[in-house]
Amino acid sequence: MNHKRLFIPGPSEVRPEILQAMATPQIGHRSKEYTNLHTRCVEKLQTFFGTKEGNILIWTCSSSGIMEGAARNTCAKKCACFINGAFSKRWSQLIEANGIEIVKYNVDMGKAIKPEMVKEVLDANPDVDAITVVWNETSTGVMSPIPEIGAMMQKDYPNVMFLVDAVSAMAGIKIEPANLGIDVVLAGVQKAFALPAGLTISWVSDKAIKKAETIKFRGGYIDFIAQLARQKKNMQTPSTPSVAHMFALDKQLDFILAEGDARYERHLALAKRVRKYVEEKWEPYTEKGFESNTVTNIANNRGISIAKLNAALGKEYLVISNGYGELKEKCFRIAHMGDTQMWEIEGLLQAIERTIEKYGDELLPDKK
Ligand SMILES: Cc1ncc(COP(=O)(O)O)c(C=O)c1O
Repeated sequence: MNHKRLFIPGPSEVRPEILQAMATPQIGHRSKEYTNLHTRCVEKLQTFFGTKEGNILIWTCSSSGIMEGAARNTCAKKCACFINGAFSKRWSQLIEANGIEIVKYNVDMGKAIKPEMVKEVLDANPDVDAITVVWNETSTGVMSPIPEIGAMMQKDYPNVMFLVDAVSAMAGIKIEPANLGIDVVLAGVQKAFALPAGLTISWVSDKAIKKAETIKFRGGYIDFIAQLARQKKNMQTPSTPSVAHMFALDKQLDFILAEGDARYERHLALAKRVRKYVEEKWEPYTEKGFESNTVTNIANNRGISIAKLNAALGKEYLVISNGYGELKEKCFRIAHMGDTQMWEIEGLLQAIERTIEKYGDELLPDKK
């Protein structure tokens, strides 16, 4: 198979044994075996999150479903959406599409969301009862200081729900949500968990569950209360889950827990290696001090065509990511998340430089 090794920020490369786990013969989702599988996944996720507090809910859908659902389940009045890239913008659109009133706070692409920005918005809008922040803006490679924002939320705005998209952060940086003042933190599994797309993991605070109980129309599919009730009853889900994904999650969590904190150290080491390469050969794009540990967004100051570079890399069965949206060709992204090892990143960086040298002017953009 002519598989190109993925260095894109999702989906990530999935190890063969995990792909194999997905091919486990199916079991009924109302069976005792499923209850055992679901129980194992929840218990392993409790270890992963370092707490038995709060609620772990596992959903058969991509992250967008829970981004939408988190707001529907916890926001009764108005939601403040902090926007610093494509996915935080998308979150605001998903919320608006549900008829929930929003306040938008835009910061320049490449910049982080900071506690003082959240304070400014919440002080000016006392009717806001939920906020959304993306931990790791995959489109710009920016990691916002969620622990600092969470500490402020806990202290100064305890009644405002703090909703966090950790889609490209979770399993790449250590997240212990019970200590962070977060109410909902969610992540699809196709990024730093290194599983195929199709499942979203969320941790939901007891406070958020209590709030959800007061909301009449939470949605039919993504209903925190119904999901939790079914889980408490017999460790199942109200509707049919992707059992194949649950087999894969069960297996991958063993791997992740065995790796322990070394997983987060590995992600940081990979990020530092790529940042060093960027400083030597390109220009950083992201606000200093807020660079992501899972994906690096790189300014294309060498003026080559990223599409052509990627096509040439494809001949070596490698693929990186162009800039996202309006950053296309102005930037490119290298993902260093999931189960990626240093030797793979070293190989990729060498391949990029070798390719640029080999093809020379052929990689220049076409004249308009
Ligand atoms: C930070 C972030 N949030 C949300 C999403 C949306 O996820 P999905 O398309 O899987 O629903 C993505 C996808 O790349 C993302 O990177």
